[in-house]
Amino acid sequence: MATFLDNLDWRCAEKAFDPAKKVSDSDLAKILHAIKMSPSSFGMQPYHFYVVSDQATKMKLKEKGYNQQQFEDASHVIVFCGRDDLKDRVNTYFEMASGGDATKRAAMKGYEDMMTGFAEGKQGEAAMSWAHRQAYIAFGFAMAACAELMIDSCPMEGLDTAAFDQILNVPANTKTVAALTIGYRKDVPHMPKVRFTDEDLFTKI
Ligand SMILES: Cc1cc2nc3c(=O)[nH]c(=O)nc-3n(C[C@H](O)[C@H](O)[C@H](O)COP(=O)(O)O)c2cc1C
Repeated sequence: MATFLDNLDWRCAEKAFDPAKKVSDSDLAKILHAIKMSPSSFGMQPYHFYVVSDQATKMKLKEKGYNQQQFEDASHVIVFCGRDDLKDRVNTYFEMASGGDATKRAAMKGYEDMMTGFAEGKQGEAAMSWAHRQAYIAFGFAMAACAELMIDSCPMEGLDTAAFDQILNVPANTKTVAALTIGYRKDVPHMPKVRFTDEDLFTKI
């Protein structure tokens, strides 16, 4: 099977999905696993993901996504959200890491205190902005997984995030940042890729 690196020129931000072609449950599971296994700062995983295949919900997202056709025609829409309940995340993290064993947890106290201090230092907008940056790493992992599987995707920020929160009924500590539409391309011509030069992009020191 071709790898992610083999498929870099093949992948694109797909505009025209074939609505008849659906991503299989087993491929979807692989993409969600890539999202799950993506790294986050401290491993805090301050995010949540909505995986939408329900057509009526996709149509509502389309309306609040500047009517971009991908929301209607893609097989699934994965909505990436950050969450700002960072102290709760730290607590859950250490409950899991220690397996509920108080002695093991005590041995990790230094690290837990450091993470708690970090979480306390990030309030309101700063916490959500940090959480959204973590979510974007998972966003990249999801696109890479799709590319390796030769599943088309389109990263999408052209959407009303507050309206998405309402449609998906997300809790107050969670906010949408972007969406990834996934599926299979129609057989139509694609725009050529435009990339700045290596000299523009890279400085080797
Ligand atoms: C964060 C982000 C947001 C984007 N939002 C949209 C969008 O709302 N609609 C869309 O059609 N493309 C969107 N794009 C796709 C970009 O326009 C596209 O990735 C870029 O032009 C490069 O083309 P390529 O991905 O086909 O190589 C977005 C891309 C990124 C990374």
